Amino acid sequence: MSENVTILGIESSCDETAAAVVVNGRQVLSNEISSQIDIHTLYGGVVPEIASRKHVERVNQVIRTALKDAGKTLDDIDAIAVTQGPGLVGPLLVGVSAAKGIAFAKDIPLVGVHHIEGHISANFIAAPDLVPPFMCLVVSGGHTHLVIVKDYGVYEILGRTHDDAAGECFDKVARAVGLGYPGGPKIDRAAKTGNPDAIVFPQGKVAGSEYDFSFSGLKSAVLNYINTQRMQGHEINVPDLAASFEKSVVGVLVGHSMRAVDTYHADTFALAGGVASNSALRAAAKEACDARGIRFCCPPPILCTDNAAMIACAGYYEYCHGTRSGLDLNAQPNLPLRSMH
Ligand code: KG4
Ligand code: ZN
Repeated sequence: MSENVTILGIESSCDETAAAVVVNGRQVLSNEISSQIDIHTLYGGVVPEIASRKHVERVNQVIRTALKDAGKTLDDIDAIAVTQGPGLVGPLLVGVSAAKGIAFAKDIPLVGVHHIEGHISANFIAAPDLVPPFMCLVVSGGHTHLVIVKDYGVYEILGRTHDDAAGECFDKVARAVGLGYPGGPKIDRAAKTGNPDAIVFPQGKVAGSEYDFSFSGLKSAVLNYINTQRMQGHEINVPDLAASFEKSVVGVLVGHSMRAVDTYHADTFALAGGVASNSALRAAAKEACDARGIRFCCPPPILCTDNAAMIACAGYYEYCHGTRSGLDLNAQPNLPLRSMH
């Protein structure tokens, strides 16, 4: 590994404009996040054009603050790491363009980073002694992937969602019961006082696939339940619904993950992505790992949801491996997760 490499990370794939300065992949000097949640809440979800415009307004200030908090200037930066995809194309283009401008002006290396690789890498920051291989469940607003992290930047995807991502399902259910956007944290909070056995919702299965996920059936079951209750004039008990829904999602996520852990004899299991900040998921995953005597890793919530420290960390390992992006780097909204080398 290269020593004393200071990386400026930039993330803008959805509704957070973020910049961070990280040394040697794991030492976070600053982690600045400007969230647009207040604006998108008004519309019940992320409006791509508004998100792009807000990134344009904020990106330079966020970078400036990240450098200042770290006590650094652009002269101290050895490389720029930026989220290249997947994500919303307009928002991605803003971060990619800002990163290219700095790399060009300062004549320093540019490294395009896969957003999911960033989420996985948040675990390296949270657990400084963590090294591959390990099993990782990435659950966010746009992705649900069960992967073996074989080495830095080397992944084997065991399963993925066939329809909605786990976070998307949280957001849609929350919207249907009037909890607003983003739904995940609100369902999490409501579920704490609810009865998880009050309503039995299905656990989505994908025929012929042990590790793939499907959440659209669960989402429909919850929406049908809400409609039926309303048509019959019954009030919906939101905490009970939230807890019962959460139990179903967590059951599938942890069930698939532990089957993979057992089959592949993994000695470490990690969570990643925005949904990894869900308290029921964290508790159930920890309990399952403890029961097996294996290590459980999960970043703190601030490193689970979108941030640039995780991008700088992933960028560091790519940088050490010799990955360099040209100044023709472009946003790739559907960039698939694959091993980088
Ligand atoms: O990783 P992330 O910040 O953005 C994407 O890459 O998509 O994840 C955002 C997702 C949203 O769907 C949000 O509702 C969900 O993560 N989320 C949660 C919690 N906090 C955020 N879901 C369940 N429980 C939470 N506490
Ligand atoms: Zn994300």
